[in-house]
Order: sequence, then structure tokens, then C-alpha cells
Amino acid sequence: MTDKPVEALTVAEAREELSRLAAAIAAANTAYHTLDAPEISDADYDALKRRNAAIEARFPGLKRADSPSDQVGATVADGFGKVAHRVRMLSLENAFAAEEVGEFDERVRKFLGISDAIAYTAEPKIDGLSLSLRYEGGVLVQAATRGDGEVGENVTENARTIADIPQRLTGAPEVLEVRGEVYMSHADFAALNARQAEAGEKTFANPRNAAAGSLRQLDAGITASRPLRFFAYAWGEVSAQLAATQLEAIARLKAMEFETNPLTALCDGPEAMLAHYRMVEGLRAALGYDIDGVVYKVNDLGLQGRLGFRSATPRWAIAHKFPAELAWTELLGIDIQVGRTGALSPVARLRPVTVGGVVVSNATLHNEDYIAGRDAKGNPIRGGKDIRVGDWVQVYRAGDVIPKVADVDLTRRKDGAQPYVFPTECPECHSPAHREEGDSVRRCTGGLICPAQAVERLKHFVRRDAFDIEGLGAKQIEMFFRDPSLPVKTPADIFTLAARDAGNPLQKLRNRDGFGEVSAAKLFAAIEAKRVIPLDRLIFSLGIRHVGEVAAGLLARHYSTWAVFEAAITQASPGSAEWAELTAIDGVGAVMAQSLVDAFRNPAERAAVDRLVAELQVQPVAARGAVDSPVAGKTVVFTGTLEKMTRAEAKARAEALGAKVAGSVSAKTDLLVAGPGAGSKAKEAARLGVKTIDEDAWLRLIGG
Ligand code: IVH
Repeated sequence: MTDKPVEALTVAEAREELSRLAAAIAAANTAYHTLDAPEISDADYDALKRRNAAIEARFPGLKRADSPSDQVGATVADGFGKVAHRVRMLSLENAFAAEEVGEFDERVRKFLGISDAIAYTAEPKIDGLSLSLRYEGGVLVQAATRGDGEVGENVTENARTIADIPQRLTGAPEVLEVRGEVYMSHADFAALNARQAEAGEKTFANPRNAAAGSLRQLDAGITASRPLRFFAYAWGEVSAQLAATQLEAIARLKAMEFETNPLTALCDGPEAMLAHYRMVEGLRAALGYDIDGVVYKVNDLGLQGRLGFRSATPRWAIAHKFPAELAWTELLGIDIQVGRTGALSPVARLRPVTVGGVVVSNATLHNEDYIAGRDAKGNPIRGGKDIRVGDWVQVYRAGDVIPKVADVDLTRRKDGAQPYVFPTECPECHSPAHREEGDSVRRCTGGLICPAQAVERLKHFVRRDAFDIEGLGAKQIEMFFRDPSLPVKTPADIFTLAARDAGNPLQKLRNRDGFGEVSAAKLFAAIEAKRVIPLDRLIFSLGIRHVGEVAAGLLARHYSTWAVFEAAITQASPGSAEWAELTAIDGVGAVMAQSLVDAFRNPAERAAVDRLVAELQVQPVAARGAVDSPVAGKTVVFTGTLEKMTRAEAKARAEALGAKVAGSVSAKTDLLVAGPGAGSKAKEAARLGVKTIDEDAWLRLIGG
């Protein structure tokens, strides 16, 4: 920074100084946010920013494309500390049709084995972002976003600026985590966008984006200037139960001066729930804030506890979404995208149209049958109408999901419009694209030789729920994939980057666009840090078809180490003992098993996996035995009639206690719980010498 007053600068001096300031501020940002090692004081940093802004104000034409004044958002994600949620922040299962509400109630009662009616609360589903507020001794000590449900971002200072969030509570348990939704009202959203536009700043697409963008500001002063609100509707960790029912618990939160939604009702069954849903839907437009459905929750907290959770959603709640928003527009073209597993996905390129407040220009067309107007079984959909380029199509959005094409208007079809011919060859690598019997998707057969598949696999590999390498996202993967001097073609290449860069005197990464000395070193360090990886993450990261995060967890917990897993999959084929073991894992079916076996048998894929594993230290994953219980790590099979609880509840409780529940008896079974009417499984257990107990003994074993 020179001392020359801004008024006295020449154009050339101003240009030069803006360039120096951009570099200095970027370096200070990296030192502060990424390295946690600030090199200059906050006051000096502010002075640099102010000087930069003053020069830009006098010479607007010199404002750089990478101007530090525009970069608040870019550094935000790296700037927040991480918070591990002590109780996971879950999402909700969705229902769309009225019948699904009755089905939900039936599932709940069936799980619990209750034939009488059960009471539920019904309340609006607020369309904002969820926030967890931790109070200790009645004092707000931490606020965290949901993040991936396990780890969120620490936004405590920002949350403190929200008027609806009390800083202190009276009558709260020692530890209380209050959960709810941060949102922005329609009026505040419109006023904010008007202010932003006037100041030449970016405007927001909808109130939810505005709320998210406002909460996730590194400068809490900006959050304070944004009119955010908060509704409390749930809780996380609590040192003492709030109440016996959902409704009373919410009433307690209200007594602690949280805002709770006034449209919360107690319903005695599906009919009352649907009536409340219709009432809320009728009020929707007049509420003044966005809601996207109604959430139903089992009212009795004891029953909620018994129902528990699936992997990511509670069994005791469901979100009944409002119907999707619709709009008509013209289909300009159909592009084919090739995914990680080779699936050829048709994407509609649309004349941009606003659907529920968001401009949509792309939508999924699912697959070739969908375009042709038939379902997977060959039955007509949309009355058999096919979709052609140039047609008028109806687009809809439901929640956050990718927009879809619902219908086509034949009366507006252009003369000479031709049926769409789906390619039978991969548009990226020109390998044949095949459809397997019973599969609605046509797939490129190129495997790793297909650049599209290879790059999508790499993007999957570095995802946040996979290897999660800081500074290596989809954008950087694209760059390295195409970089001739430092290419990354398979995951193993990521781990040889630093060594290859060291032996590459001319084309050092630190001299490349978007990289510098610090960011290159930082990237290499982030990669190094991920050489140690838990087995479940590794399995998920491989991106094998049908093997999602949950399945990867099941496999890792079953086989524990890479060596055991690898040997088992290599030797498995239908009919073998390894195959029987694999498919006996609860949650692993024949389709997934075959997909694993195929992936390990393909020489190119296998070589890529072996090269990767050679670069890593794979950490074993303990069977769910981390839970301290007499059945932790044991494989249990239930058979016959259970009288004290339903089969589903028995299974869920066993799993919560760290046991594996299998569907059939094998040499690996530790315990058979047999009720009256047990048949072949009991015989098999006797033959194999597997310990067999009845339901009462089981309940005594697990403590009730
Ligand atoms: S209950 C364990 N109630 O919807 C379940 N969630 O799609 C806790 N949401 O992540 C959530 N309004 O951010 C609940 N009245 C409400 C809600 C609500 C909005 C959000 C929440 C959740 C998401 C799931």
C-alpha cells in the first residue's frame, strides 16, 4: 500500500495498486481462513480492504475480475470452524400423495405392533435452513448449520445476531440443543433484493437462498444487517427430557421464548392430518414466508424413541410436500450426459422459464423410454405421447430436486418434428452403449477408457462424503484430468501428484493459474492427510454401481479390513461360500453383490483399485461393537413369532445395540432368537450348533 492519497493516483498507478492489493488480500485470506495462521493484524487487513474499495470507487473501470470486494462468498465455506453434532441432524422422508399419509400411519403402528389410533402433530414445513443451537446452563454457547448431518459449520456469532434466537433461557435443562429453521419473510426478501440491486450487489433467487447466504457470512455484521428469523421445532442433545409429548416439548420451547409455529396441531389420525394439511395449504399464500409442506410427527416421545431412526431419517416423522410447481416452455434440444457408471442421461435444454421462483433452463428426461412415452415395462405414460425437440413441455420442480419434464402439448407440435432417436453409442468415447435386460438405462461400455466416466468417478471420489480432499473439488478434478503435464486420470494419480510435481521443473503447480506457492503446498498437504482412510469411506469412494454410503458401511463393518474384504469379493461368485456370506449381509442383495464382483473382476478397474490402495493406509472399521452391549458385534437372526415387539422393532433395537441382524442362519450366526412356530432356521441352527434362545431370554439379555 502506498501512502499516496487515492485522489492523487494516476490511472496507471491505480491499476498497479489494485493488482498488488488483490494479491495481498488473497494471501491474507489464505493465511487466515485456510492456514489458520494470520500474517497481518485485523486492522491492517481492514485497511487493505478499505484502500482497495476506495480506489475501486474512484476508478470503477479498473475493478478487477478477481476483485477482493466481491470475494466474501468464495472464502466462506473455508472460513467456518467445524462442529460435530452430538446428535445427528437428520432429514425427513417425503410423501406426496394423500394415500402415503395413511401408509405412514400404518407403518408406524405395524412397527410398534399397535392397532389403536396414534396421535400425531402436524405443522408447516418451513423452507429455510436448519440450525442447531446449543445452550449450556441456559446460555447460548454454539450455533451450527446442518452440514452433512454429522458435521456442520460453526455460525455462533452470526446466530447471535438473529432477534428470534434467545441468548439466555430460563427453565431450560443444563444442556439443551434446540433445532429449527432459519428463514426470511417474503417482505424482507424483496426489500433485501431491492437494496442489493441498488448497491450493484448480487440478488438472491429465493428467500431460502437469501437466508442461507445471509447466515453463512464470515462477517457477522453482514448477518446482523439481514432480517433473519427462526422457528424452533425439534431438539438434539438434552440433559433431561423436555416433556412426554412432542406438543408439550414444543410448548416448553415456546415458554423459553423461542418462536414456534402457530399452525401446529394435534391430530388423532390420518384424516385429521390431511384436514390440517389442506388448511395449511389454503393459508400458504398468505403466510408471508415460504413453506413447502406439512410435517407429521408421532406425538408420544416414548413411541418416538421406540421407533428410532433409519440411516438418515426418523421412522416417527414424515414430510407431506405440497404439489410441485409447474410451467410450460419450449424444448430447445436434448443433450446426453454420461455419468459415473456409464449411464446415458438425457437432459432437456429448455427456453428459460420461471418455475416457483427459480429460472429453469435444464430438466431431466430420465431415460429413453421416458422420452418415447412408455415406462420400464413398456406401458404407456403421458397417454403414450413421446417428446420431440421443438415441443412445448411442462416442467415441474418439487423441493430441491432437479426439474423434471412432466407433459407435452401435442397441439403445439411443429410440422415435421421427428421422434427423438436415442444414441446407441456413447457421445463421449464412442463405445457401444448397451441396455441390459430389465434396465431402463442405456450405458456406455467404455468403462475407464471413457473420459466422461473416468472424470465423473474422480469427482465422486473426492466428494465430501467420500475422500473429501480440501481444495480438490469437481472444478479442480476437471482441470487435472485435462492437464497434460500433471494428469489425474484415476484416484491413485491424486496421491502421486506431489511427487510428480516435484519432478516437473518447468510446469510447477504453484505457477499455474489459480494456484500459488501456498495453495499448491496446501493441496499437497490436504492430499497427504487423506492417505489414512477408514475402510467404509474407501469402499464408497470407489463409486461401484449399487454401492452407496450405507452399503459401504455395511460391507466395511462386516469385513473390517481391506485385505479381508478384497479377498472375499475376489473369490465370490454365485454358488461360492464367499458369495453366500456376502449376500447374507442384511442389506446386500444379489444385484449389489454381482456389481461388486464384476468391478473386482474387470482387469482395468482392478488395476486402478490396487494402485490406489497401494498409496493408502486403510483403517479397519470396527463392527458396530463400539456400542457397549452384550450383543455388540454379534450376528443375530430372528425367527418365528415375536410376542413382545414386532420383527422390525426387534431388528432396529438389536442394530442400535451394535448387533448385526441377518436374514438366514449360517456358520457366522452367533445367536438365534426363536419364537413360537420357528421352523427350518431353528433346525439349521441346531445342526450348526448356533446358540438359540427365546424372546424373553433375548429381552433379559439386552436389558428389557
Ligand atoms: S423436524 C429429525 N420439522 O426439513 C427430524 N423439520 O426435509 C427433524 N424442516 O432437515 C426435522 N420445517 O431442516 C422438522 N417443522 C419442521 C420442519 C423441518 C422444516 C426442515 C429441516 C429438515 C428438513 C427435512
